[in-house]
Amino acid sequence: MSFEITKELTKNPKTKPDSSNLVFGKHFTDHMFIMDYETGKGWHSPRIVPYQPILLDPAAKVFHYGQTIFEGLKAFRKADGTVVTFRPNKNFERLNRSNERLSIPAIDEKLALEALRELLLIDQDWVPSEEGTSLYIRPFVIATESALGVNPSEKYMFMIIMSPVGSYYAEGINPVKIFVESKYVRAVRGGVGNAKTAGNYAASLKAQEEAHEQGYSQVLWLDGVHLKYIEEVGSMNIFFRIDGKVVTPALNGSILDGITRNSIIQLLKHWGWTVEERQISIDELVEAQKSDKLEEIFGTGTAAVISPVGEISYAGEKFTIRDGSTGELSAKLYDTLTGIQRGALEDPFGWVV
Ligand code: COI
Repeated sequence: MSFEITKELTKNPKTKPDSSNLVFGKHFTDHMFIMDYETGKGWHSPRIVPYQPILLDPAAKVFHYGQTIFEGLKAFRKADGTVVTFRPNKNFERLNRSNERLSIPAIDEKLALEALRELLLIDQDWVPSEEGTSLYIRPFVIATESALGVNPSEKYMFMIIMSPVGSYYAEGINPVKIFVESKYVRAVRGGVGNAKTAGNYAASLKAQEEAHEQGYSQVLWLDGVHLKYIEEVGSMNIFFRIDGKVVTPALNGSILDGITRNSIIQLLKHWGWTVEERQISIDELVEAQKSDKLEEIFGTGTAAVISPVGEISYAGEKFTIRDGSTGELSAKLYDTLTGIQRGALEDPFGWVV
């Protein structure tokens, strides 16, 4: 299948931000990709246009019922100047799984990849090269039909926007403090926890805000049925190094199938680690900490890559993990994964495109 992506280039290129001091997701490149959908017509009119506001009817369904999904991936500049992305096919596969859950029509993954390739070619000068920087890519779909009935929209827009970024958390690879959340939950069995949809993030804000007020960076989410099993940390997947093994919650429908999570599991197995994907309760974690078997905790995600945890607060008790310092496995994983992503290290998995 061939796609005709039309292109309109900007006449007013923007001044690029200082890449030694990038705030996450504040600046956007000169161009964006858009494609429309209408029932009966399918996805049509793929185009690259200057980055600009979009006009929507106030009754557009996305505003009322949150029928929307998104993705996040990164492009990196290698030392030789070429631009690469990390496992982009995985993001578009997941985008379609999220679409399916939100009753949004599937997108042709090959077209999405081609659109991203062409957009990156046009805006390649926006990919920063400083250590720790990248171009964050945000594909997303919104329901645009103007109608207030609660049923799947007959119209959608798929867009890709891009933003040069530095580290996601101010802490960088320094350990964060987390609060075990036992009032709010992120997702429930049968819900949308494994879809990358806006409502999951909106629903997490209150807990995050309350955790911040108490001096914590993020919350540790427990399952929505028993408030017992660990699910995620903030907007990231979570890993524990316990007694020489690595444990991460198994994908159960309410946990996001993270691409960094999957890459970390493959990398650890490649190094000979035992990785257990299974249920892990907060009690097991406390027990491991009390018996000195809890060696490291870290979150994984596209935005921050690896975020070590230095302290957890649970039921009024505070536990300091390994004196609050960054674990050697967290540091090695961060260095290796970012090294592979930037083309500085060999890529035995064929992840870099
Ligand atoms: C990630 O990449 O870890 C995230 O999910 C954060 C993103 C929503 C900014």
